[in-house]
Amino acid sequence: MERRFYIETYGCQMNVADSELMLGQLGRAGYRRVERAEEADVILVNTCAIREHAEQRIYGRLGELTRHKLRRPGVVLGVAGCMAQHLRGKLMERVPQVDLVVGPDGYRRLPELIDEAREEPTLAVRLSRVETYGDLVPARADGVRAWVSIMRGCDKFCTFCIVPYVRGRERSLPADEVLRQVEHAAAEGFREVVFLGQTVNAYRDGDVDFAELLIRADRVPGIARIRFTSPHPSDMTDRAIDAMARCEKVPPHLHLPLQSGSDAVLSRMRRIYSIDEYERLVERIRRAIPGIALSTDIIVGFPGETEEDFETTRRAMDRIGYESAFIFKYSPRPGARSAEWPETVDEEEKTRRITLLIEEQKERSLLKNESDIGSIVEVLVEGPTKRNPSEWFGKSAQFKTTVFPHRGARVGEVVPVRVAAATPHALLGEGVRAATFATVEDVLT
Ligand code: SAH
Ligand code: SF4
Ligand code: F3S
Repeated sequence: MERRFYIETYGCQMNVADSELMLGQLGRAGYRRVERAEEADVILVNTCAIREHAEQRIYGRLGELTRHKLRRPGVVLGVAGCMAQHLRGKLMERVPQVDLVVGPDGYRRLPELIDEAREEPTLAVRLSRVETYGDLVPARADGVRAWVSIMRGCDKFCTFCIVPYVRGRERSLPADEVLRQVEHAAAEGFREVVFLGQTVNAYRDGDVDFAELLIRADRVPGIARIRFTSPHPSDMTDRAIDAMARCEKVPPHLHLPLQSGSDAVLSRMRRIYSIDEYERLVERIRRAIPGIALSTDIIVGFPGETEEDFETTRRAMDRIGYESAFIFKYSPRPGARSAEWPETVDEEEKTRRITLLIEEQKERSLLKNESDIGSIVEVLVEGPTKRNPSEWFGKSAQFKTTVFPHRGARVGEVVPVRVAAATPHALLGEGVRAATFATVEDVLT
């Protein structure tokens, strides 16, 4: 009998890549993927634990998915990923219909685990020091972009963060396996490769560091762009900056999480850099790669963040001038160090702080995007926008979403687009009506 498998993914790109890995494993075991949970006999949710809100949402979704088990008791309901690793057996206590809890290091044996879960509730949450899945072939989703996890885990232990506890120790894939994956992605027709890792630039395999890996990947024919996320500021070596500058396929964009502009907060977060060191790093990067676009992550309301700390962050964001920023309210994660510290910023004040930073960043992003008006950007074509099939979109080299009139461009091509207008979230080519694209959701399909 054919076995049908449904998967839903939450969280970051690493989870998206892990879901593709699981799809690869299940494909080889004879499963066929289906797009609706009602059609599946195995339902898997790949989860995130980064903030409480993420877990709440997933609990809600699991509640809905348990209906399928009521109607069809043979269905296997599995929870994978970071929340599975975080809560382990507790997840089964809270949602007794869950048959399988599998953490990020258990995917190699996924088909066997599912078979076990048909017989009895199964828990596979042992973290590994060596598992990288480098030899497994993921079933990648169609599109122009291929995710390649080049390292797993994290050894930084920022005090707010659950990742080191749910993804285990840092380990890198062998360089030849990474390069084989890049070549394989190119052969499958992907045009952009995104190297993934929680501290992606801490990559090391013997003599091959992150800089050397970029240089080697840059030589793979067929690939137009090589991106990576997220680098840690303290691992951003001059060698890596130099490699970014020299590699033709590495575009001028860098996501460089800051978290806070206040040294007191950075130190309690255990980020291992000061704001001064961070800004000097930014200077070196901008000198080496003129016109590079920077984006970042910021947390507001960390325990002990005073009004003055917050204002310091505000000023730092202004000085640095990010093209875009993801801003989060601090969320205590049981298990992470800072969860033991009393929260000093109440919800209302967190809301005030986040709203202010988001508003200011929106204005800043708009100004940055408007400064591109009149210039020509190189866009890697992704496909039609949701609103208008004759208007297509893609990313510029600076990773800005760019909308342009279709006129025969093909998916995966890099086309020049003259920027005629801008919103905080997108560049618009000549002939595109600005009003249609008020938010990024209007653009992306
Ligand atoms: N490895 C990346 C971050 C991964 S998590 C890095 O070190 O930069 C993505 C972002 O989520 C983080 O950059 C941080 O801004 C945010 N985040 C992580 N834990 C959080 C928490 N407990 N509360 C609020 N935001 C958090
Ligand atoms: Fe979390 Fe810090 Fe590791 Fe990033 S570097 S995953 S924020 S512990
Ligand atoms: Fe979430 Fe795990 Fe990614 S906690 S952000 S899915 S590494």
